[in-house]
Amino acid sequence: MLPRTMFKHFSPFPCVFLVLSTFLVSGSHQISGFGDFGYGDSTDFGLSSSKLLIKGGTVVNAHHKEVADVYIEDGIIASIRSNIKVSDDVTVIDATGKYVMPGGIDPHTHLAMEFMGSETIDDFFSGQAAALAGGTTMHIDFVLPVNGNLTAGFEKYLRKAKNSCMDYGFHMAITKWDENVSKEMEIMVRDKGINSFKFFMAYKGSFMVNDELLLQGFERCKALGALAMVHAENGDGVAAGQKRMIDLGITGPEGHALSRPPVLEGEATARAIRLARFVNSPLYVVHVMSIDAMEEIAKAQKEGQRVIGEPVVSGLILNDSWLWHPDFTIAAMYVMSPPIRKSGHDKALQAALSTGVLQLVGTDHCTFNMEQKSLGLEDFRKIPNGVNGMEERMPLVWDTMVESGQISVTDFVRITSTECARVFNIYPRKGAILVGSDADIIILNPNATFEITKDSHHSRTDTNVYEGRKGKGKIEVTISRGKVVWENGKLKVEAGAGRYIKMPPFSYVFDGIEKADSAYLSSLHAPVHRHRAST
Ligand SMILES: *[C@@H]1O[C@H](CO)[C@@H](O)[C@H](O)[C@H]1NC(C)=O
Ligand SMILES: *[C@@H]1O[C@H](CO)[C@@H](O)[C@H](O)[C@H]1NC(C)=O
Ligand SMILES: *[C@@H]1O[C@H](CO)[C@@H](O)[C@H](O)[C@H]1NC(C)=O
Ligand SMILES: *[C@@H]1O[C@H](CO)[C@@H](O)[C@H](O)[C@H]1NC(C)=O
Ligand SMILES: [Zn+2]
Repeated sequence: MLPRTMFKHFSPFPCVFLVLSTFLVSGSHQISGFGDFGYGDSTDFGLSSSKLLIKGGTVVNAHHKEVADVYIEDGIIASIRSNIKVSDDVTVIDATGKYVMPGGIDPHTHLAMEFMGSETIDDFFSGQAAALAGGTTMHIDFVLPVNGNLTAGFEKYLRKAKNSCMDYGFHMAITKWDENVSKEMEIMVRDKGINSFKFFMAYKGSFMVNDELLLQGFERCKALGALAMVHAENGDGVAAGQKRMIDLGITGPEGHALSRPPVLEGEATARAIRLARFVNSPLYVVHVMSIDAMEEIAKAQKEGQRVIGEPVVSGLILNDSWLWHPDFTIAAMYVMSPPIRKSGHDKALQAALSTGVLQLVGTDHCTFNMEQKSLGLEDFRKIPNGVNGMEERMPLVWDTMVESGQISVTDFVRITSTECARVFNIYPRKGAILVGSDADIIILNPNATFEITKDSHHSRTDTNVYEGRKGKGKIEVTISRGKVVWENGKLKVEAGAGRYIKMPPFSYVFDGIEKADSAYLSSLHAPVHRHRAST
């Protein structure tokens, strides 16, 4: 049985039905409101049945694949076997020759985030609509506390997420430390469904935390069964690197890459790993961008430490040549932190993903349009950091990893969906095609091709860092909790339909931690009971 009772439904608002066609959405790049998407003809929305049969496809889970039919009722997978017979009132989708897979789960996004004097142009609705068009049916976003207040941050993000059109969960960032924060972490875990906290080792003067806080945070996370996550770059080093570039007169986007080289990412990754080892807490390293960081993770894993490494799509397939582009607007698109690295890091990260050193793929989707990026026209330090990816992640990972022969089809499901559900403790409700799981399903046609352009994407941003990329593996259908939301190049999404998914603590990565703790204590052979020397 799945523990259904712990999931809370937040009331949908506003209840607007939208039919979005690719055509209507393109060219609308305003920041606010749904209106700029344009309303399509919504008459066929009511026809989508609560009963659905996916016929003849190859059903893929992380550990197995087989040809079977999948029958869905009321948003839940009801049956998986061959030749399911149904009555006429059931909508039937033919998936012959195609893959039927769990919808993607993106572990790393920033929607409606206020950052560097701007707010990301994708809010929960537009970012999620884009994600659904690309086969991702759930994401986990980062709540930022309000002046260090976690409860206030959580409530603010629930409000931001009211217009959600797909399921979502939250991580939370810890940006300062005191008794209140420590207490509130427990409330977040016990009552609010948050089971992971992120610590920034970079962004000196704003989010950055020192080692003392990192240690306290890791201890607290471990006690609560919450996963500690780190943005691993040496913040003092970054500040010094930025000053060095400015002193050299390097003020353009290339200065961003030059100011925070891989050595700073490697150092912070190694430090976080060693501190987590000292505390004996599991650790999750977000957006691993360099060989330097990846090798620290590999080394720790070889020694038996539990470290999870998350590459992001941009780090897996882009290289830093863009940052030297003579057109500022093009170069600035690629500014994110840690930076996109020199060619070579991309291939090494792909290899690490294929061998399991890195386990799941995120995007760090954090979109700013050209106008917002131009805040840093005179100074790369003011360019809002972030790239797109929620819509592109699934097809690009398929094309880069499966089509190239680096991983199997089952591995694709593991790294884009199942492992994320397991690490954040919502498996098998999410991340699997099993009886009783949520019907978050995609149909991928391995023979069809995709092409990515800013004119046809569904994000509100007016650029795309994957502009012009073509590949094999097209997401033809996306089903979100039993409803077809993407088919024939058309989105049918509903603002307010997405639910907040609570994530309970103590996922599998905590299993056995207490045994390691007792082994540690008994290895100390201390205190030594000494008797006073008799004179
Ligand atoms: C895709 O190609 C493979 C191999 O040629 C074939 O078996 C399969 O049926 C094709 N699928 C579709 C949907 O065309
Ligand atoms: C944090 O914010 C919540 C909700 O806004 C408020 O009720 C609470 O008193 C605040 N906590 C502290 C320590 O200021
Ligand atoms: C904790 O919150 C209370 C108000 O709820 C406040 O009076 C106190 O100063 C806070 N403590 C710290 C260390 O910020
Ligand atoms: C680096 O990226 C550019 C732009 O996408 C591409 O043309 C080039 O081939 C890449 N370099 C290598 C060595 O892959
Ligand atoms: Zn991020």
